[in-house]
Amino acid sequence: MPKTLIAGNWKLQKTQAEAKEFLAEFLPALENTPSDRHVLLCPTFTSLAAVAQNLPGSRVRLGAQNIHWEDSGAYTGEVSGPMLVELCVSYAIVGHSERRQYFGETDETVNWRLKAAQRHQITPILCVGETKAQRDAGQTEAVVSAQLERALAGIEPQNLVVAYEPIWAIGTGDTCEAAEANRVIGLIRAQLPDQDVTIQYGGSVKPSNVDEIMAQPEINGALVGGASLAPQDFARLVNYQ
Ligand code: PGA
Repeated sequence: MPKTLIAGNWKLQKTQAEAKEFLAEFLPALENTPSDRHVLLCPTFTSLAAVAQNLPGSRVRLGAQNIHWEDSGAYTGEVSGPMLVELCVSYAIVGHSERRQYFGETDETVNWRLKAAQRHQITPILCVGETKAQRDAGQTEAVVSAQLERALAGIEPQNLVVAYEPIWAIGTGDTCEAAEANRVIGLIRAQLPDQDVTIQYGGSVKPSNVDEIMAQPEINGALVGGASLAPQDFARLVNYQ
């Protein structure tokens, strides 16, 4: 059975002080969360240590928003596996569409980053998804399938999470219909050698639609941007009905 993973991606938001304030309100709201739900927070690199220090004894896991393919070297502005492991990071988002769009991430660099994560026993969350123009042109299946094939070359099917994030649904309030997200995620699963990989949906997940999304049989979790920033909203997502 794939495990259920609800993850918050804070992107370029929250200072260390703000992260601590968030945890003070968020953690008590998890008291009755079913134990089979895995909860993950992915703060900025600068807040990882502060969040790690405030999680002891908590069930919340810590994730990074990226990971470099080399362990060290002349790569200004990057962060590597050993640096993340030292901060108790156990997941890393790889190939988010914002990295692809604004920072030149390609399927090839995504593949290198996935390998680096697995080498350090960090579970990569591979993000795939089509643009609005690609969807309108009927290319969704081909685009997602090609992203998967190139990103996953030489990757162990275990210790992997995939997030289907249609780009037109990210940060727009325009959620992909739950049944359609379920359909595409079913196609993604059919392409993976391991049927137990956790596959999340991401793109405008919020308290008003989380229950319907999580009721879909192929969807094993959510990767959440905007609605993970407010402690009560994110708690509502984790405590989906
Ligand atoms: P959103 O972002 O929830 O704000 O749409 C999702 C994501 O980028 O992972």
